[in-house]
Amino acid sequence: MEAQTSLPLNGQVAIVTGAAKGIGRALAIKFAQAGADVLIADIDQNEMPATARAVEATGRRAQVIRADMRLEADIDAMVDTALQVFGRIDVVVNNAGINAPGGFLGVSRQDIRSVFDTDLIGPFFLSQRCAREMITLGIEGRIVCISSIHSVVPAYCPHYSAAKIGLEQLVIDMALELAPYGIRANCIRPGGIAIRGRTEIGSPDVSNPHIPLEGRSGLPTEVAELALFLATDASRYITGTTVTIDGALSRMTYSALTRRKTLAREQENLGFPARIPGPIL
Ligand SMILES: NC(=O)c1ccc[n+]([C@@H]2O[C@H](COP(=O)([O-])OP(=O)(O)OC[C@H]3O[C@@H](n4cnc5c(N)ncnc54)[C@H](O)[C@@H]3O)[C@@H](O)[C@H]2O)c1
Repeated sequence: MEAQTSLPLNGQVAIVTGAAKGIGRALAIKFAQAGADVLIADIDQNEMPATARAVEATGRRAQVIRADMRLEADIDAMVDTALQVFGRIDVVVNNAGINAPGGFLGVSRQDIRSVFDTDLIGPFFLSQRCAREMITLGIEGRIVCISSIHSVVPAYCPHYSAAKIGLEQLVIDMALELAPYGIRANCIRPGGIAIRGRTEIGSPDVSNPHIPLEGRSGLPTEVAELALFLATDASRYITGTTVTIDGALSRMTYSALTRRKTLAREQENLGFPARIPGPIL
């Protein structure tokens, strides 16, 4: 397939971490569809080839690397490989993330280290190394980080929440320091996205009554569309921000839930059909 010059990322190179499956796979494919060659990085070697095949099906080049975000040498290997194979890095998406289950009373030092290394410290040093290369090469690059609504909405996973809110603050600092070099950094805060293992991608039923908008889970492709916006010139004046994509799931407070019956009555009194999001408490 011939490269199309009108594509927003034509001739550009993107590194996507955690790209073997889930949201990361959707990111890799979306960026390739927009014209980018993609370095697919993950620790899951079984699933990476499928992402690479999907990228190549768009006519773009894919390079797979087994790289662990917790290891400094692997982060360097990612960047070195992207430069050796493609010659440049325009976009880096820090998507790889884990959430080791366990509330405050149960979390071990090992759990915290693993989550922080994967979700915060790894993205810190991958972004730092990429920014250094972008500046050296004179590239006005873009950094996109994938946070979570649990950065601000607790879910009994304090280590995950702490790592993700740290990631959002890191984006603010990167944006400030890198703006004079023309490099932008932004963050996406997803919630309730249907991935394999929770809700099968492609399954007709992604319904979720807890989610106000359309009563369904979000799709990895919807997160990828937002990431593409943040990685292209369409967002050229946006940096240092975090955008939530969760169908208003994180806005369903206890107060909102408890007012549902009253709201339904109000709607009916106004002559509207009662439409109230969320489950009955
Ligand atoms: N799915 C959701 O609803 C949701 C909500 C909020 C935030 N997120 C965030 O989205 C991102 C993607 O998650 P997902 O939902 O697609 O889950 P997922 O488990 O399908 O994908 C995560 C990927 O990261 C990889 N990974 C894990 N540890 C790694 C490491 N140390 N080094 C390199 N790769 C590693 C995994 O192998 C996997 O392929 C994560 O940062 C997650 O915190 C997802």
